[in-house]
Amino acid sequence: MAKVDIKYTKLFINNEWVDAVSKKTFPTINPQDESVIVQVAEGDKADIDLAVQAAKKAFHRYSEWRTLDASQRGRLLLKLADLMDRDAKYLSELETLDNGKPVTQAYGEIIWAAGIVRYYAGKADKILGSTIPADGDVLSFTLKEPVGVCGSILPWNYPVPMFIWKIAPALAAGCTLVVKPAEQTPLTALALAALVKEAGFPAGVVNVVPGYGPTAGGALTHHPDVDKVAFTGSTEVGRIIMNAAAAVNLKRVTLELGGKSPLVIFNDADVDKAADIAHRAAFANAGQCCVAATRTYVQAGIYDKFVAKAAEIAQKRKVGNPYEEVEQGPQIDKEMYDKVMSYIESGKKQARCVAGGNRVGSKGFFIQPTVFADVTDDMKISREEIFGPVQSIHKFDSFEEVVDRANDSNYGLGAGVVTNDVNIALAFIRHVRAGSVWVNTYEHVTTQTPFGGFRESGLGRELGEEGIQQYVENKTVTLNLPKKPLL
Ligand code: NAI
Ligand code: MG
Repeated sequence: MAKVDIKYTKLFINNEWVDAVSKKTFPTINPQDESVIVQVAEGDKADIDLAVQAAKKAFHRYSEWRTLDASQRGRLLLKLADLMDRDAKYLSELETLDNGKPVTQAYGEIIWAAGIVRYYAGKADKILGSTIPADGDVLSFTLKEPVGVCGSILPWNYPVPMFIWKIAPALAAGCTLVVKPAEQTPLTALALAALVKEAGFPAGVVNVVPGYGPTAGGALTHHPDVDKVAFTGSTEVGRIIMNAAAAVNLKRVTLELGGKSPLVIFNDADVDKAADIAHRAAFANAGQCCVAATRTYVQAGIYDKFVAKAAEIAQKRKVGNPYEEVEQGPQIDKEMYDKVMSYIESGKKQARCVAGGNRVGSKGFFIQPTVFADVTDDMKISREEIFGPVQSIHKFDSFEEVVDRANDSNYGLGAGVVTNDVNIALAFIRHVRAGSVWVNTYEHVTTQTPFGGFRESGLGRELGEEGIQQYVENKTVTLNLPKKPLL
């Protein structure tokens, strides 16, 4: 196993490294062998209060941050992106230690995230309002102002991209932040905090407070001085956050939640290519992906061939030590391992298991890539988010039938279609209810395009131009505009 130097384990508040007020710490676990990597300071309400105070002070109207030119906010972000590139190898090794994802994948995520920082750096001085030909003798225009102190509550599946999806647009817009990383993966968030400081951001602009959800996360969502919370995680916690926002101060909320996304493959598709797209759509990041296409719908004419191919690819998927050339490491923790295995057991009782179905080894949270065929829409594995390496293949006959079935979910994050028939693809795009639709590809999420969900998959969008709009308030200004001088 790689030896990774861990430099930061304290809370990052007001550009300083501090212990928790309670002096408490919590262990972060290596999912590869279940060992404790290190103890991390455990933030709670008292620490969140201090971090919010720092962020509020940094947002004061005469603060260094608020009086900085927008272009200079962009320059600070560019510096941060360069530092991420500089440290990408270290950050990826640290990520793999904490999260278990293959180190080459972690490296790619860090480089991608640095690119997102650059995208928003360029936007900092291009957040434009409009001039509006309003009724009456008036001049009307809008100002786009930073929303204020933002709380970011992060998941563990893509720790660095999620940190950046939240802080980059917020900083470009001129907000300040308190970030609570997931308790499973605090280490890269702290390493990124050190880079934020090194880049030269003023004290209090970004604060990072690791801790547990109901305590640290709860304190952030209930804080009356937090103007907005951006959250990625479960739909269950998304509801808690929306309720807290409603009860306390109507803080703005953006939610990036779960999914049960369908990928629909028609008879005219090349079976090998379609099976490959479907495999990657289901198993990317060990299936720990909100937009994973976990419902594979295959038209009857190619169904048997497809099932055989899907099983073959899954059996070949390399699972093991994430510091080596593998495609899949362990699941994140014991809780998720147990949850995924219980779905697999339920699948074995109801559907036909054609690949995997078991643990890999006896140490660490490794699970075989698992494929179920003959899955029907009422089965538990077809309805609930599994968040593990499990593909469920369903058979369908007609377009009308499959569109209804694809839409028969409370979620609406992603959807995909594989076909060479442009009319089928266009009709699918038109009728499917999802925040992202992919044709002959899947999970192609880009920096420039908005990402988010319909229905219970969330609220608001991240990335692209929409991403920055979630961090600004609209101020409408109207001046009396006389036809002649009033004097
Ligand atoms: P979670 O939603 O409980 O945790 C996500 C983040 O929210 C973490 O930082 C956690 O500390 C925080 N949190 C938890 N309870 C909170 C509360 N009461 N108030 C404020 N913050 C709180 O997700 P968890 O438990 O890690 O995984 C459960 C399920 O959620 C997974 O099986 C999966 O289905 C889904 N999930 C979806 C993700 C996505 O990318 N949309 C990411 C992670 C999990
Ligand atoms: Mg939870």
